[in-house]
Amino acid sequence: MNIDYKALADKYGTPLYIYDFDYIENRYTTLKDAFTGKKSLISYAVKANSNLSVIAHLATLGAGADCVSIGEVKRALSAGVDKYKIIFSGVGKRDDEIRAALKYDILLLNLESEAEMKRVEMIAKELGKEARISVRVNPNIDPQTHPYISTGLHESKFGVEIDMAKRMYIYANKSDYLNPVGVHFHIGSQLIKLEPIKEACVIVADLVRSLKAIKIDIKFFDVGGGIGVVYNDEITISPKDYTQAIFEATKGLDVTLLCEPGRYMVANGGAFFTKVLYEKVNDGKRFVIVDGAMNDLLRPSLYNAYHEIEAVGIEGEKSIADVVGPVCESGDFFGKNVLLPPLKHNDLIVIHTAGAYGFTMASNYNTRAKSAEVALQNGKDRLIRKRETYEDQVRLELEYLEK
Ligand code: LLP
Repeated sequence: MNIDYKALADKYGTPLYIYDFDYIENRYTTLKDAFTGKKSLISYAVKANSNLSVIAHLATLGAGADCVSIGEVKRALSAGVDKYKIIFSGVGKRDDEIRAALKYDILLLNLESEAEMKRVEMIAKELGKEARISVRVNPNIDPQTHPYISTGLHESKFGVEIDMAKRMYIYANKSDYLNPVGVHFHIGSQLIKLEPIKEACVIVADLVRSLKAIKIDIKFFDVGGGIGVVYNDEITISPKDYTQAIFEATKGLDVTLLCEPGRYMVANGGAFFTKVLYEKVNDGKRFVIVDGAMNDLLRPSLYNAYHEIEAVGIEGEKSIADVVGPVCESGDFFGKNVLLPPLKHNDLIVIHTAGAYGFTMASNYNTRAKSAEVALQNGKDRLIRKRETYEDQVRLELEYLEK
């Protein structure tokens, strides 16, 4: 991003999230182009960044939405995503969520257990509808990523084994209230190696072939999300290689290829701005204390994730420091042993690659207000979410309402 960080920080205050909408557009079109020649649908994983303006921007380009709660489905609909481009996944859908999804008539519900399938069937019957479904298959592949974001091994809670999936398809195919139209897998997030995705595609394509052989016509082949991005110096999967691997595995199958990228679309389009409050040295160790914290951007604390930290426009001899926030936890840090110049009150720090799983994982821990969010598009900036206030935070606490 080539932007005047300082001017933005002054205009909107910090902590602040900034998203480059032109970058996001470019990511979408690059991936969509890589599917040229095949029927495809890119359903953006809303959990990565669910600001309505971000979803709406992608919807305008033709994207669908991959949702994991009815709240996300509602966001997608409010943002103007076509209902037939919305899919609803998740290991634990409540009855009211299933009911609402069926009423909204979205493309499909992605089922993650036999018990859930029976529940969907029952609710569909109650509503006099036929539920379009897919089954999330767990292909037992090690995606070689962080264990917290690895989902495709048998020991994980996600999806069902191939044999179970087959039984579910056979059952669903006979049901008057279920219509099995898709197959799905998602083996993990921040994948930088193609091989595990290829292997999973081959396994799941075989399942589809065996289903087609018994007249269960799977129309959507959903490869999930997971394309890794560059946080530091990773060499990651290119869109062309990704789609080639999918094309190869699904050769001869008449299916629409579906994918659900989240991080790929937005991570490097976003940055988190925070200002220096103080510097201090404890027992020879240098700390830079900033006004953002783990409640705003949790990834370093939760996954020990690396995010590039830049002190904007500050010169001087660099030395190592931990960049920490004001929250009352030792785990509240953005970076450890980061090389930084001497910093003073109000100097601006930019934390890069924060567009995905940044704001969406923010909380109000320590009664800290959530950051504002700003979009950059065609050389202009605009506020897309106001900074939260104390009043916003206590609004639902009944006994003190209207006092
Ligand atoms: N589809 C399904 C079914 C998913 O579970 C996920 C992510 C995605 C798509 C999108 O994955 P992506 O393309 O963004 O890798 N909070 C973690 C990431 C958790 C991902 C959960 N599922 C992080 O900050 O790294």
